[in-house]
Amino acid sequence: MTGAISTLIPYAELDPALAEQLLDRAFGPNRHGRTAYLIRGDAEYLPALSFAVLDAEDYLVGTIQAFPVALADPEGRAHPMIMVGPVAVLPERQDQGYGRALMAAQASALDPQAPLPQVLIGDAPYYGRFGFTEAPRGWHCPGPWDPARLLIRGANPAVLPREGMLGPWRG
Ligand SMILES: CC(C)(COP(=O)(O)OP(=O)(O)OC[C@H]1O[C@@H](n2cnc3c(N)ncnc32)[C@H](O)[C@@H]1OP(=O)(O)O)[C@@H](O)C(=O)NCCC(=O)NCCS
Repeated sequence: MTGAISTLIPYAELDPALAEQLLDRAFGPNRHGRTAYLIRGDAEYLPALSFAVLDAEDYLVGTIQAFPVALADPEGRAHPMIMVGPVAVLPERQDQGYGRALMAAQASALDPQAPLPQVLIGDAPYYGRFGFTEAPRGWHCPGPWDPARLLIRGANPAVLPREGMLGPWRG
């Protein structure tokens, strides 16, 4: 992060209004209609996997969250997964390593004993560096999506269903 001191804190410690403003800046005000929002539905975010990064002046620069989701396979079985994101860094503070720091914080908070597969919608050239690869082409979303941007990460992606519909985890 260009040598400056920054601080990672739990997302839950943020003022929710400030966090919402940051997401509006990073994604634009119409973000609530995005397919990622449809996948996670009204689920609460996972606090143990959600973080914020503050700069040396304690100014909020970026956030990462995670949500419980599931892939429903053609036989009706639900495969629980973690949806990574939104990941957001203020436009004027991008390309300074904050996104990488947020991704690393979340990855190290994942349970190494029983990690669930992770899914996200994002740019493969960016998320590929964190181990994400394209999801099987038989995976569907409840809204429009670009298959090249539907990405997964997991210990053994080969064991995941080849077909299914993503949606909230109704466990
Ligand atoms: C995507 C995002 C979170 C990255 O955070 P960041 O702090 O800017 O990224 P970092 O500083 O960690 O990494 C910068 C590197 O990633 C690259 N990069 C950044 N965004 C990229 C993208 N969309 N596609 C490909 N590469 C990208 C930069 O070119 C830079 O490369 P380098 O290390 O080779 O110089 C941030 O740009 C952002 O908030 N974008 C708007 C919201 C968004 O699209 N979020 C992702 C979907 S959930």
